[in-house]
Amino acid sequence: MIIIDGKKVSASVKEKVKSECEALKAQGIIPGLAVILVGDDPASRVYVNNKKKACEYVGFRSEEFALPATTTQEELLALVDELNNRDDINGILCQLPLPKGLDENAVIEAISPVKDVDAFHKQNVGRIMIGDYDFLPCTPAGIMEMLHAYDISVDGKKCVVIGRSNIVGKPMGMLLLHENGTVTICHSHTKNLSEITSDADILVAAIGKAKFVTADMVKDGAVVIDVGMNRDENKKLCGDVDFENVKDKCSYITPVPGGVGPMTIATLMKNTLKAAKLQNGID
Ligand code: GUN
Repeated sequence: MIIIDGKKVSASVKEKVKSECEALKAQGIIPGLAVILVGDDPASRVYVNNKKKACEYVGFRSEEFALPATTTQEELLALVDELNNRDDINGILCQLPLPKGLDENAVIEAISPVKDVDAFHKQNVGRIMIGDYDFLPCTPAGIMEMLHAYDISVDGKKCVVIGRSNIVGKPMGMLLLHENGTVTICHSHTKNLSEITSDADILVAAIGKAKFVTADMVKDGAVVIDVGMNRDENKKLCGDVDFENVKDKCSYITPVPGGVGPMTIATLMKNTLKAAKLQNGID
């Protein structure tokens, strides 16, 4: 069993972005990312801080817009509009979920597709579906990059994704399909879930429930990717996979923390760099 080191893979991605950023700076271009955080969700605060830290590391400018939970839809859309029109901002990210009462879809659609470094805008989602895209969604693309780094081939493999969110489950299935996996997406209405997951060569857990995937749900020798970020009964950080009991059945498994999370951020850096290049007519 090999524990996939997401921190190590993400560090090499960030190194590459950093050196490309230096080359851009020599041409007078400094990539800029705007990070919008509405409300005071503690997990979102941690994610936003990590994203800002990564920007600093690779040499981007980052600007945080921390708004109160009482922010109106109109105020939020006005901010997005302002950022769409600023030449020094190449990427716009609005951390999800938004507080109740705000319309996430409307905010995503308001972000200019060329600055949509999360790849959430329907124009970018559609382009991914066809396979003609500039940006890939950060978590699924980060997972693919991790598989590549460990020479894990998807071609012809049975791939099972648990979870069908627009952020992870659905695009994850699409990226696995692009690499010729045979993909099944499971969700809360799926019957005989264990039967399906037990057949998976590659199992991606994106459910949002602590230690949901147990050893009996996993095939011997499977590759298990854990997208979860939860707290267990002792308030300790844990994933959607019962790591201690599942790990010995796996050929490869990602830990939480130190697996998928750092890869999400590394991909965001790649996307922001690409956005800056595209907006400056490079590539
Ligand atoms: N919330 C959970 N994951 C993400 C992500 O990748 N981007 C944004 N903006 N919000 C998220």
